Amino acid sequence: MNQRQLFLHHLAQTSDAPLMLEIERAEGVYIFDKNGKEYIDLISGIGVSNVGHRHPNVLAAIQSQLDKYLHTMVYGEYIQSPQVLLAQALASTLPDPLESVYLVNSGSEAVEGALKLAKRYTGRSEIISFQNAYHGSTHGALSATGDDEFKRNFRPLVPDFRHIRFNQLEDLNLITNRTAAVLIEAVQGEAGVIVGETEYFQVLRKKCDETGTLLMIDEVQTGFGRTGKFWAFEHFGITPDVVISAKGMGGGMPIGCFISSVEILSVFKNNPVLGHITTFGGHPVSAAAAFATLNTIMEDKLLDGVKVKEQLFLSLLKHPKIKSIRSKGLMIAVEFESYDVLKLIIDRAMDSGVITDWFLFNDKSMRIAPPLTITNEEIKKACEVILLACEDS
Ligand SMILES: Cc1ncc(COP(=O)(O)O)c(C=O)c1O
Repeated sequence: MNQRQLFLHHLAQTSDAPLMLEIERAEGVYIFDKNGKEYIDLISGIGVSNVGHRHPNVLAAIQSQLDKYLHTMVYGEYIQSPQVLLAQALASTLPDPLESVYLVNSGSEAVEGALKLAKRYTGRSEIISFQNAYHGSTHGALSATGDDEFKRNFRPLVPDFRHIRFNQLEDLNLITNRTAAVLIEAVQGEAGVIVGETEYFQVLRKKCDETGTLLMIDEVQTGFGRTGKFWAFEHFGITPDVVISAKGMGGGMPIGCFISSVEILSVFKNNPVLGHITTFGGHPVSAAAAFATLNTIMEDKLLDGVKVKEQLFLSLLKHPKIKSIRSKGLMIAVEFESYDVLKLIIDRAMDSGVITDWFLFNDKSMRIAPPLTITNEEIKKACEVILLACEDS
């Protein structure tokens, strides 16, 4: 059997239509297949490679950590310098009192930890999340996810989740003093880039304060500069109680976290002791890569370019087949008339060396979320290919 057949046979499949790109290597905004064909990666696989593939700073940090130690102990016992440096650096990106970091391996796991934290800290069980939200595929994260098709055949899920409408002020009245937490994305990613409104988030903050509810922002997709601020909640002028991150955090390595105040996160210390455990969370190699990623975003001033690059995409992507565009920084959804129209365009762009994608809950919008390091020339080249694909399909 060749690689394609082995892939289909031995790797558990999650759809009948995997993209099947046979990867040879990746560098910057480029992915190369086994025939040496070059692709501009406009999705960062997905929302991960914010500093590009194989950023030299990330590689150097990984290399240096490889020479010291790999796993030595489960999370939270030994003092491991990559974890300490990373946690301190994360705290420096956040307003007080967000300075206590729990490191995990992925976005779903970070959401799970945050859900437990909210229940334990407030002594309440109700979690409010949103229609069309995506928070991950594990039981708790899936319970928070707001798309019934995704959940139907996995019920019963975790009890006491309630889904309200995003950006709808009147629904905030459903937050009461029995609500442990509101779990919300600053920009709904998988719904197809639905941008949170500032006034809405400010009223939400107030409502959470009034009811003693934790406001937990899922920045798994929006964090680490994706929207032009280091954290997307900064657009709203509010401070959440818990921030959840993963994806772009590791510069291509698996890592996630949830961050809160020392006071709130201390509840995991007792009743029960070791209230949340992970063996690999904050793996030293991933933590070193994440520290380098954070520093690269700051030192290379990557946030400064995001708005300009967003505007360049918006100004170039004009075609009768494009019905609308929604965006926040380099998190962009280009909407077409239907799935069928979009499928031809995505396939054609792929053939011509540009990788785009759909969204989980929006199959007529094209996902564009390139590395923040993409240059203007690369944006122009990619947009030309997309426009040609629109023309030819
Ligand atoms: C907003 C959001 N939260 C959580 C997750 C889950 O992250 P992971 O796939 O790392 O478990 C995702 C993944 O797409 C996401 O977009």
